[in-house]
Amino acid sequence: MNILLLGSGGREHALAWKLAQSPSLTKLYAAPGNPGIAEEAEIVPLDATDHGAVIAFCAERAIDLVVIGPEAPLVDGLSDSLRAAGVPVFGPSQAAAQLEGSKGFTKDLCARAGIPTAGYVRTSSLEDARAALARFQPPYVLKADGLAAGKGVVIAETLPEAEDALADMFGGGFGTAGAEVVIEEFMVGEEASFFALTDGTAILPFGSAQDHKRVGDGDVGPNTGGMGAYSPAPVLTPELQARVMAEIIEPTVRTMREEGNPYQGVLFAGLMLTAQGPKLIEYNARFGDPECQVLMMRLACDLVPILDACAHGIKRIKPVFSDETALTVVMAAKGYPGTPEKGGAIALGNAEANGAKVFHAGTALKDGALVASGGRVLAVTATGVNVTEAQARAYQAVDAVSFPSGFFRRDIGWREVARERG
Ligand code: AMP
Ligand code: GLY
Repeated sequence: MNILLLGSGGREHALAWKLAQSPSLTKLYAAPGNPGIAEEAEIVPLDATDHGAVIAFCAERAIDLVVIGPEAPLVDGLSDSLRAAGVPVFGPSQAAAQLEGSKGFTKDLCARAGIPTAGYVRTSSLEDARAALARFQPPYVLKADGLAAGKGVVIAETLPEAEDALADMFGGGFGTAGAEVVIEEFMVGEEASFFALTDGTAILPFGSAQDHKRVGDGDVGPNTGGMGAYSPAPVLTPELQARVMAEIIEPTVRTMREEGNPYQGVLFAGLMLTAQGPKLIEYNARFGDPECQVLMMRLACDLVPILDACAHGIKRIKPVFSDETALTVVMAAKGYPGTPEKGGAIALGNAEANGAKVFHAGTALKDGALVASGGRVLAVTATGVNVTEAQARAYQAVDAVSFPSGFFRRDIGWREVARERG
C-alpha cells in the first residue's frame, strides 16, 4: 500500500516509524514531516489546508490510505474531501470530529446518551455565563468550546478568578474558540486515557495511558500538551476498561451512528476515575501526543491493516500489544509552554543504544545539524517490565541526549512508580 501521513510531531514520528515496519507498505509519504519522520518516509511539500492539492497528490501517487495525525485537518473537513474523492482515510469526518472540536457538542451527546460526565451548562454570552456560575461550586471549570491547542480550559479557584477568565474567553482571548463557553462541575479523581478504534459500528479497544500535563515536577505549573506518558495505565483495570467500553465508548459510537455522524478512526477518551466510576472529561478525535509514542512502542503487530480497517471494517482485526510498559519523557525547549527558545543545538549521542527510541517532535535540520524548532522537541521512549524499569531506561536515554537549551521533567510515571514500590 502507498500511504500518506499528515502531521509533524512526535505522534506522527511514532506512526511513521511503525508504518515503515509494515510488510504491507509499498511507499510512505509524509507532509510536512520532521527530520525523524524523514528517516522513515519521503517528505513531500503538501499543505493539508489545501484539500485540492492533497486529493491531486493522492491520485498522482496512487495513495491507498491517508493517515491524519493532528486534529486541525479533521475539524477542517479534510477527511470528507478525501472520501468524496474516493481516497480512504484514517480519521473521522468533520461532523464526527466535533467530539473534539466542540466541547458543547460532546456534553450534549453525553446528556442524550446517558454517558457519565461532569454536569455542565453551555453559555454563549458573558452575561449568561456569569449568571450560570451561581449554579456551581468552586473550583469552577470553564472551557472555551472550540479548538484551543489544549489551552482552552481554566480551573478557577474563586468567583472573581472565574469571572475574569470568562471575560477573557468572551473577549476573544481564545479567538473564535471562546465564542461559546462550557461551565462544568469539578470532578475529583485520578485521570487516565483510553483509546478505541472504530469503523463507525464495530469497536476495538486500543490500550490505555496516563500522561503528565503540567510543565513541572510534582505536577505543578501551567498545562502543556503533555510532558510524558506511559502505557498501559494499571489504574484502568480490566474491570474499569469494561465499564468505559460499556458506559462511555459504545454509547458514543452508537449515538453518533444513529444520528447520522458515524465516527471512523481513533477515539481518545480523557477519563476521570471518580468514586462513582469512570467519567468522561473530554474526547479527542486523534491519537494523543505523547500517548501515541508509548502505544506504538508497545504495538507488536502490523499497524497498516489496523488503520486501514477503520476505513473498511474493523471486526476481524486483533491488535497485539507487548506486555511490557512503555514510558516516554518529553524534552522541551526552555520557555515552553510559553514562547520556546528556537534553534538550540541537539545531539542524540547513543540515546538509542539500549533499545530506547527518540521520537522527533519539534526538530529541524540547520546546515545539516539537528536543532530545536518547537515547544516539545523530543519524546524519548523506552520499555521495561514495569513503569519503574521503563522509567529508568527512558531517563538513561534522556541523559545521553545533549540539549543545553532544553528541559524535561524528572518524575514521569511517579504515581505508578510509588505504587510499584508499595
Ligand atoms: P480538557 O482539555 O478538557 O482535557 O481539560 C484539561 C484538564 O483540565 C484535564 O486534563 C483535567 O485535568 C482538567 N479538567 C477538565 N475538566 C475537568 C472537570 N470537569 N473536573 C476536574 N478537572 C477537569
Ligand atoms: N497529550 C494530550 C493530547 O494529545 O491531547
